[in-house]
Amino acid sequence: MSDRRASYIHGTEASEQERLAALNRMTNAPFLDFLGLAPTEEVLEVGSGLGLLASEAAARVPGGRVTGVEYSGAQLGAAVEPPANARFVQGDAHNLPFPADSFDVVYCRYVLEHVADPGRVVGEMRRVARPGGRVLVQENNIEINRFDPPCPAFDRVWGRFAELQAMLGGDALIGRRLYRLFKGAGLRRVELSVQPEVHWSASPGFVPWVTNLIGNVRSGEKALVERGLVSRDDIRGAIAELQDLMTREDASAIFYWNRARGVK
Ligand SMILES: C[S@@+](CC[C@H](N)C(=O)[O-])C[C@H]1O[C@@H](n2cnc3c(N)ncnc32)[C@H](O)[C@@H]1O
Repeated sequence: MSDRRASYIHGTEASEQERLAALNRMTNAPFLDFLGLAPTEEVLEVGSGLGLLASEAAARVPGGRVTGVEYSGAQLGAAVEPPANARFVQGDAHNLPFPADSFDVVYCRYVLEHVADPGRVVGEMRRVARPGGRVLVQENNIEINRFDPPCPAFDRVWGRFAELQAMLGGDALIGRRLYRLFKGAGLRRVELSVQPEVHWSASPGFVPWVTNLIGNVRSGEKALVERGLVSRDDIRGAIAELQDLMTREDASAIFYWNRARGVK
């Protein structure tokens, strides 16, 4: 396997895998609509994690197949049992273990922020797509998170979280680079879009969304503290602020995912 991988900031603890599963429950439906899969398409998910999204994608291609490629044995070990038309294989996104021109649709989600060389990964996604095939991604730019009332203690830790991700070889702000990455990989008809996360105290998504952000902070806590980027008190303060936000009746949170699609 390649040595180009960055360290995965969130890790693969059971609590983190539960956070990822909850994030899937929140974000899968609009992402599957974005993919616009046709029933017989051959599909690849790069960095398929627990296989939750790939399994739902498989239900949209009853006459086709979904392959998920994932480098972490811990994630593959905890992955859901794939449906009959899906499979999960181990491999590195920088060197996809498939011949050129293999898939109608190649996508990744919440992965480019974690890889050492996202340009190479998008290039690999293009390589394994068939001519005329689609490449789609949805990624993060964590600086977009906003709350009302403001959460300055969280904001401080969140800024250090982006620094930690850079130290680990990733890019927590990668969402803003998608157009350049797609153009650099030689994709055609590149289009950008966003998927909003707009939540408020009375909306059903508010508590799950803020809980997800608390989980994010917890997933990076050990490394943040060990590297001296924040103190345990800073972490406690950030989490307390978000917990307080969840008890209010007048709070709101805004974010958006960055998306890109292109054609080979
Ligand atoms: C945040 S999870 C997202 C999983 C899934 N795409 C989803 O949307 O639920 C990111 C996944 O990418 C995997 N990953 C990170 N770098 C990778 C690489 N170079 N090759 C393959 N998988 C990678 C991680 O192990 C992790 O399972």
